[in-house]
Amino acid sequence: MKDKLQALKSEALQAIQQAEQLSQLQDIKVTYLGKKGPITEILRGMGKLSKEERPVIGQMANDVREAIQAALDEKHATLEQARIEEQLAEQAIDVTLPGRPVNQGSQHPLFTVIEEVEDLFIGLGFSVAEGPEVETDYYNFEALNLPKNHPARDMQDSFYLTEEILLRTHTSPVQARTMEAYNGQGPVKVICPGKVYRRDTDDATHSHQFTQIEGLYVDKNVRLSDLKGVLTVFVKQLFGEDRDVRLRQHYFPFTEPSVEMDISCFKCGGSGCPVCKHSGWIEILGAGMVHPNVLRMSGFDPEVYTGFAFGMGPERIAMLKYGVDDIRHYYTNDQRFLKQFKRV
Ligand code: PHE
Repeated sequence: MKDKLQALKSEALQAIQQAEQLSQLQDIKVTYLGKKGPITEILRGMGKLSKEERPVIGQMANDVREAIQAALDEKHATLEQARIEEQLAEQAIDVTLPGRPVNQGSQHPLFTVIEEVEDLFIGLGFSVAEGPEVETDYYNFEALNLPKNHPARDMQDSFYLTEEILLRTHTSPVQARTMEAYNGQGPVKVICPGKVYRRDTDDATHSHQFTQIEGLYVDKNVRLSDLKGVLTVFVKQLFGEDRDVRLRQHYFPFTEPSVEMDISCFKCGGSGCPVCKHSGWIEILGAGMVHPNVLRMSGFDPEVYTGFAFGMGPERIAMLKYGVDDIRHYYTNDQRFLKQFKRV
């Protein structure tokens, strides 16, 4: 009997020793210590033993059971620890790995130009004004000296929503709205960036929706030379100190006199190249002295106040600055185009 117990013990301990998984320990426990296991059987058969043998075998069987249980517990702890360590290793996060790159957007080139122009004019004492894109016929045309049936309305083919409401065709209505808000008291110094709409067939240089930046300076004794001075500062800052400017006579209903401003070509310096169409000059904006009728309609006395106004297209400026060859690139949102412009 003693030998049998001894053999059971070493068999069980060896099995425990070799076990590699927690589930195996459970099987070993059932096999050796379970209700139908050999030790229980021995203990149950104690009645058949002699009086002398009984305590000895009983004691020994208990010792064997405890030894097996102790070995099981110890192995259980070891395997459990190993399992936890394995899990930790598996789930470990390597914080030193480089992260996945975040797809960063870049600023749209038109906004870069608009902000640059805004900053420049803010530096010259202007403030930024805005107005509605859905505008009344009055502000878009009439208040700008373009009464109904004025032939010059044809210069700006319009999207009418009703007889009296349209999508603004230029940012000049913001001039009229701003002057009205000043109640005839100057100085008014604003620039007005925003979207405008015209019924145009889209091609490389035309778009039915584009942006403009309007400028307006109304005060006592504002002269054409002030216009030229301010715009020269602007052009040199945007296109380089070496730029020359020239004013060409033009016609706008809301300014008198009216001019178009050219800059000397920044590509060839004036000698002639494809960018300036071999003329040496690049047209950059329209401008003029605010028409007395416009001042009057917006509440300013043209006998006291004079002013200049100008309007430019950020699309064209960005095309020239960045060498963009098709205006549609600004609106078709091709990432290959947009990504070339760095975040600022
Ligand atoms: N509003 C004019 C246009 O869109 C530009 C302009 C503005 C001209 C202000 C003169 C003065 O063509």
